[in-house]
Amino acid sequence: MNLLEIHDLNVRYGGITALHKLSLSIKAGETVMVTGPNGAGKSTLLKTIAGLVKPQHGSVVFDGQLITGCAPETIAAAGFSMVPEGRQVFNSLTVLENLRVGTGMRRNKLAVAADLDYVMDVFPVLRERALSQAGMLSGGQQQMLVIGRGLMAAPRLLVIDEPSLGLAPLVTDQVYEALMRLRVERELTLLIVEQSASRAVMTGGRMLMLREGRIVLEGDPRQLTAHQMQQAYFGYEDEPVTASTP
Ligand SMILES: Nc1ncnc2c1ncn2[C@@H]1O[C@H](COP(=O)(O)OP(=O)(O)OP(=O)(O)O)[C@@H](O)[C@H]1O
Ligand SMILES: [Mg+2]
Repeated sequence: MNLLEIHDLNVRYGGITALHKLSLSIKAGETVMVTGPNGAGKSTLLKTIAGLVKPQHGSVVFDGQLITGCAPETIAAAGFSMVPEGRQVFNSLTVLENLRVGTGMRRNKLAVAADLDYVMDVFPVLRERALSQAGMLSGGQQQMLVIGRGLMAAPRLLVIDEPSLGLAPLVTDQVYEALMRLRVERELTLLIVEQSASRAVMTGGRMLMLREGRIVLEGDPRQLTAHQMQQAYFGYEDEPVTASTP
């Protein structure tokens, strides 16, 4: 069954069309990586699903429910959680308090406590630093914290915008290893945006490449050639012409 179905989505900001008739389906349990150059519309896609940006046309159905135009709180309550780019932690709150913010309207205290414990198992550094102010954490630790906060809502679909931005490769590896663990243990459906396609290969999921608001390439990244990816990323019709030496 498709957990998310997007049909013919059009998003404009004034005169700029950020998404052109974009359609996309994601099955429950799937991992989908969205890649593409600057300004391709990647963040707009996530924000539109989250209800932060209203589309001019098209529909978003999440778990069988039409959520186009719904308020972000309504969409979150349906089982959707978004980790925006930029690692926005509450600097003066502790790690634990930041995680608790993510629980939102959840009432079941036992389930919340179990999830808190689980998130700290997945990201042990959050347990070690539980009582530290979030503003004192490193960039990688803050990225783990915002993902952990997103998980505290107990989502079925977690979307993350550029988790590796500005992180050392080793730290990015740790973040992805945790995400892959979540996928298996929690059967979490993941939609992750990254500018580069290299991480898509590692996740073993499906890759979509966006350029100028359109899906220009889609498939299993292990079966796509570097040439296909470059063509789609840069929009070459053919091999780039190289200057010939006389
Ligand atoms: N709030 C906004 N107002 C006006 N134009 C916007 C706004 N947000 C995005 N855009 C424009 O919409 C297009 C898509 O932007 P978006 O941020 O979705 O791209 P992106 O693929 O996430 O890029 P990046 O890799 O830089 O994060 C770009 O042309 C961008 O300039
Ligand atoms: Mg973006």
